[in-house]
Amino acid sequence: MTAASFPYLRMRRGRSAPWMREMLAEHRLHPSDFIWPLFVCEGRDCEEPIGSLPGVSRWSVDRLAGKAKEAAALGIPCVALFPNTPEGLRTGDAGEALNPDNLICRAIRAIKDAVPEIGVLTDVALDPYTSHGHDGLTDEQGNVINDDTVAILAHQALVQAEAGADIVAPSDMMDGRVAAIREVLEAAGHQNVAIMAYAAKYASAFYGPFREAVGSQGRLKGDKRGYQMNPANIDEALREVELDLAEGADFVMVKPGLPYLDVVARVRDAFGVPTFVYQVSGEYAMIEAAAAAGAGDRDALILETLIAFKRAGATGVLTYHALDAARLLNG
Ligand code: PBG
Repeated sequence: MTAASFPYLRMRRGRSAPWMREMLAEHRLHPSDFIWPLFVCEGRDCEEPIGSLPGVSRWSVDRLAGKAKEAAALGIPCVALFPNTPEGLRTGDAGEALNPDNLICRAIRAIKDAVPEIGVLTDVALDPYTSHGHDGLTDEQGNVINDDTVAILAHQALVQAEAGADIVAPSDMMDGRVAAIREVLEAAGHQNVAIMAYAAKYASAFYGPFREAVGSQGRLKGDKRGYQMNPANIDEALREVELDLAEGADFVMVKPGLPYLDVVARVRDAFGVPTFVYQVSGEYAMIEAAAAAGAGDRDALILETLIAFKRAGATGVLTYHALDAARLLNG
């Protein structure tokens, strides 16, 4: 039997009514697909809008639980926390990252106390704590020193786990950090604290607004190409994922999102493990700018980019649009 062809086969039949299109949808978005990144600042009753991320603010710890509550009420399963460390606490050795009472640890405890039903993911990297804005310790030439940094990252992850983090997410791209973190967590009895490895993280121009949000922008000397990946590479991404999984990563992440959908698809196909994608700050800013310029409908742009991640095979998406998208989907 040969396959039907026109006019007996008409693909438009499947698009002829809303119910038909809904019935035939191959992928769907749900609020549980989202992880919502939140920025935290010192102070009381503070909201600090971030200029390059219209609609996104830093919140003081006392306001943070309210944001997490909103997310939970919309069906968002997890928030990701990023601190804006006060100027005076940023040093060459990133010592504040290991302070059990630092901003991020207080933020974790506040959310866990007030909204125990939502997951808390924390970033493991030193850039919010270093005076030079790099993700690790640097030598005299400004190169990031791998192994010394890994030891600190493992300690940083432990401090976050002790404060109540459910998922620690190393975003630093040092070699060997996943194994070091897993070992420290196991030894301290944190068997259920998961590791989401930023496995394929690219040296991207789309991180600009994030660096403003965490206050590392002006201070960054040089760039991060000595540890983050070259945007030209994809075989290398598969190797990175393979290594992180071998070291004990529970879930992996690709970052940024939209310009790297091919990487998401390859990773998901090759490994079949929970694969997350970070729709990063510059992507958010791009959508907001397009909508503000009248170049597209904001809601439609948000949902179309998010379904693209699902189509590529992503398990979930870290997105600053999480709340908006969940509202649209619940509405
Ligand atoms: C830092 C980190 C970055 C992001 C998440 N964790 C920035 C960077 O690597 O410079 C970017 C997220 C975003 O742009 O939204 N380790």
